[in-house]
Amino acid sequence: MIPRRVAGLALLLAALAAPRLNAQIPALVPLPSEVQAGTGAFVLPDTVTVTLAPTSPRMREIAAILVANLADEGVFARVRDGGPGDGTIHLRSLAADGADESYRLEVTPTSVQVTAPGEAGVLWGVQTLRQLVVHRESRATIPAVAIRDAPRFGWRGAMLDVGRHLFPVEYILEHLAWMSRHKFNVFHWHLTEDQGWRLAIDAYPRLTEVGAWRTEADGSRYGGWYSKADVRRVVERARLLGITVVPEIEMPGHSRAALAAYPDLGCTGDSLPVPSTWGVFSDVLCPGKESTFAFLETVLGEVLELFPSRYIHIGGDEVPKQRWEACAACQEIIRREQLGDEHGLQRWMIARIGRWLAARDRVLIGWDEILDGGLPPGAVVQAWQGSDRIGVALAAGADVIASPHEWVYLNRQAGELPLGRVAQFDPAATAAAAQATGAGGRLLGGEAPLWTEHVTSPENAELMWWPRLLAVADVLWHGPADSVALAGRVEAVADAMRQGGVAVGPADRALVALRFRYDSASGSIRVTQAGATPGLVLRLEREGVAPRALRDGDPLPGPGTWQVSPRWGDALVGEPRTITVVDHLALGRPIQLATPADARYPGTGPLTLVDGARGTAFNDGFWNGWVGPDLDATIDLGASRTVRSVDLSLLEQVNSWILFPEVVELHASVDGQQWQRVGRSVIDRPVRPDAASRELVRVPLAAPLETRYLRVIARGGRRLPSWHSGAGELAWIFADEIVVR
Ligand code: ACM
Ligand code: ZN
Repeated sequence: MIPRRVAGLALLLAALAAPRLNAQIPALVPLPSEVQAGTGAFVLPDTVTVTLAPTSPRMREIAAILVANLADEGVFARVRDGGPGDGTIHLRSLAADGADESYRLEVTPTSVQVTAPGEAGVLWGVQTLRQLVVHRESRATIPAVAIRDAPRFGWRGAMLDVGRHLFPVEYILEHLAWMSRHKFNVFHWHLTEDQGWRLAIDAYPRLTEVGAWRTEADGSRYGGWYSKADVRRVVERARLLGITVVPEIEMPGHSRAALAAYPDLGCTGDSLPVPSTWGVFSDVLCPGKESTFAFLETVLGEVLELFPSRYIHIGGDEVPKQRWEACAACQEIIRREQLGDEHGLQRWMIARIGRWLAARDRVLIGWDEILDGGLPPGAVVQAWQGSDRIGVALAAGADVIASPHEWVYLNRQAGELPLGRVAQFDPAATAAAAQATGAGGRLLGGEAPLWTEHVTSPENAELMWWPRLLAVADVLWHGPADSVALAGRVEAVADAMRQGGVAVGPADRALVALRFRYDSASGSIRVTQAGATPGLVLRLEREGVAPRALRDGDPLPGPGTWQVSPRWGDALVGEPRTITVVDHLALGRPIQLATPADARYPGTGPLTLVDGARGTAFNDGFWNGWVGPDLDATIDLGASRTVRSVDLSLLEQVNSWILFPEVVELHASVDGQQWQRVGRSVIDRPVRPDAASRELVRVPLAAPLETRYLRVIARGGRRLPSWHSGAGELAWIFADEIVVR
């Protein structure tokens, strides 16, 4: 044995003598606990022997992963039973099972050894080995190194929402491979949503026949689902790669697709479509009916057959309580079980499902709303509403998965949530305070969710995941990193990923930052994109017209409906913007607003209402919005003109607090002094939950007008109805054009 101090000195001398060797160790993500660079490198022969001890089925699978990894590097490998030896790669597991994921990796010029207390650690050692392979003088080599490594957290996850947009099985399999390379061990599969039910359930075929399909705003059908065979492929591939698939079946909220298939699951029994807009919907499952539990237990029964995971996610987030308040069956349960209120009813429901799962040896996970009204016994909490919820859940005694939206919601653009911030995420920071109080909960780890309202394709998902998921890997395996050092490692790994065909997005800006500006000089809308992602192209598209790429500052062409689509190759990577360009008498004319639009909705500039462009969604950059004051716009047509019609283009998006005004008035003047009211339109329609539409509201005229000035007033001050989540608050008016003909 070399005395400790001397060993330290030898290492120091080695480091001083060969500083370049340190630099030869490729970037590793996640960073191992301890890395000691050695001298020289293991040069892989054309055919390398991999020896296993023991040769258990799992060790053979791990060896097969190593063999495939080496094949990617142009090295052929054969596997046999045996111990370490010159020129070989030896994999050794000291025990068959156990949760220990630690490993040691020793590379010398003569051999490579991965040793771990359990098979799980051997896999992670093999994945580290893969990142260490470098090509020198046309040979694959592994720099000499000694690594001791163990994860900080046992739960290192990524969640994919396949409800809002569907992702093919092949993509999920590829994603699992990249997750495993970076030592993620949980794939949380968010399988059901308002906008789509994606899992085949034999007992309830309508869930996929009806619930997996929606009609988009443009009339097209969108949808699809995973068969049980698909699911088995994903679960099996994940298992091979050291990943547990945790399924999520949302209840009682985010269940509109299930309600569309089986309306009796709701409180009202109303027939509702699968929605094609985003948000939180009032209609949820009815826990007042025994039949709802029969449904859920049957569905979960089939889920348990498919997914071996001990943990089963049941959602539980964002549950409006209006339907339960008005439901006799729900109120009866609240009385009978003495639950106090609807929050108590939610807790009772989740606890009942939790007991059902526990009786089958499974553990319920819910989003942190399941804490409201008290933690259901034994439930694991996924904290998302803010990092303070981690501490709250731990203090309530729960085991916790940390997914605070402000740190790890990767559906947020990297401009808002850059890599450097993700790298600073420390799930334990708020946990420490809670644990100091002696509360019983444990922090299991963390997960980065990708919600896909605005993520439209596999390429789009990759551009959002990477490179930031590398920072998540680092944080959950190693701990918060020095963000400069991390950025260097991430960049090197991201390069390798790009070479592997992965679409890697920007680290610190949005994928696309589209802006539409009305340019008075040319009388056109110009499209600009601030700091677009290299490789991403904006395409101008229209049915029957050859698409073309838009350059920065290009104008939109003339009348018609156009789409501006962000593309990566042919794949859509974000939602297309649909713009209708119209020609009319007021186009580009001076306009004055009695109250300027709210600063958050500046539209295309001061001439938004006469820029000739109509948008489709409140946040697409074409709309002016007011909350409280009237929309009150005066237009100077420049000379006396014959006006036959005036239409105000308005938006209704009830979930976003945008209603139609009740009254639109039109006034006219030949001189700008003397005004006369010439028309009035009353929009006399009930406000329906979740309604969303765009409409040209015509102010009827008794006869054509001869006029120079027009004043359009849409009365503000309307309040949200009593059933709305913002009941009694002021509603918004949104308008994008005054079309004068
Ligand atoms: C969530 O983001 N509603 C869990
Ligand atoms: Zn009910």
